[in-house]
Amino acid sequence: MNLNAPEKILNNSAPRSPDYSQKDKPYHESVLLEEALRWLAVRPGGVYVDGTVGLAGHAQAILEASGPDGFLVGFEWNESSYELALKRLRPFGDRFVLVRENFAQIKEVLEGLGKVPVDGILLDLGLSSFLLEGSGRGFSFLRDEPLDMRMDQRLPRTAKDLVNQLSRLQLEELIRAYGEERFAGRIARAICEARRKAPIKTTRELAEIIWQAVPASYRRGRLHPATRTFQALRLAVNRELENLKRFLEQAPEVLKPGGRLVIISFHSLEDRLVKQAFRHDQRLEPLTKKPILPSPEEVSRNPRARSAKLRAAQKTVEEV
Ligand SMILES: C[S@@+](CC[C@H](N)C(=O)[O-])C[C@H]1O[C@@H](n2cnc3c(N)ncnc32)[C@H](O)[C@@H]1O
Repeated sequence: MNLNAPEKILNNSAPRSPDYSQKDKPYHESVLLEEALRWLAVRPGGVYVDGTVGLAGHAQAILEASGPDGFLVGFEWNESSYELALKRLRPFGDRFVLVRENFAQIKEVLEGLGKVPVDGILLDLGLSSFLLEGSGRGFSFLRDEPLDMRMDQRLPRTAKDLVNQLSRLQLEELIRAYGEERFAGRIARAICEARRKAPIKTTRELAEIIWQAVPASYRRGRLHPATRTFQALRLAVNRELENLKRFLEQAPEVLKPGGRLVIISFHSLEDRLVKQAFRHDQRLEPLTKKPILPSPEEVSRNPRARSAKLRAAQKTVEEV
């Protein structure tokens, strides 16, 4: 499960979830696993793409369901997750290839591998529990870590760069647009005041600046006041919405007629992009009128699934 979901906590207390940071216990529970397989209509011998392999929960299930001769192309741009996934999928031998690439390059990569067209593509967006809690990259304001937030270390700018280098107006705009944060102005101002004294380097420093910047009533709210700003920085550092847009433009071109596109998203900005593309792209036919949500049992077992939304579409059978 994904950690795009804003964390529901009331204060700056220590994390309540188990500590998955130990290197020997990388952890992530796949969200909407059965539903994803069902909407992908996985069949033996099919060729599938998992654009966000993570720790390979969905990828493994796709390989099992498409056996004995189905094939999977997996994208995972985070180096540690890539290595862990490779290890987990090794028993499937030559039935898969894993690339350390951005899913926004899906067309070029699949063409390079000679795998176009495919039967189905899955995206399970955002962070894994492993990245959130075990990567040391500063994704969570509940931990004291360097402000990095790059899922892929080859990306050019860290959260620390943005926080210390953007103008006040740019910061305000970023926090408002990507975080949908109503106190974006106050937070941007407080960041600029703080960084005049010394550069802001850690998640704890930033969370404290935000905490002090917002009205007291906001601190008593359902979400920690830093939730939305952290989300905004993460989206910007990883260019998550741009990647999703680029992916949505290309995905219909690499699907077979009738091929399935299944996307699990975790916040409204992503879901809106998916919904619009499925509704307006003539090459796609939406299959889910309303998004598929996790069952109450799944949410109680795995609280991070609570904001997941799955949408599915298929490539139109007649070319337009
Ligand atoms: C929610 S996790 C996927 C979990 C996976 N479905 C599982 O069951 O283990 C999302 C993963 O996608 C990766 N990711 C996010 N954006 C990506 C992109 N643009 N290209 C490639 N990988 C990406 C992240 O590094 C993360 O490991």
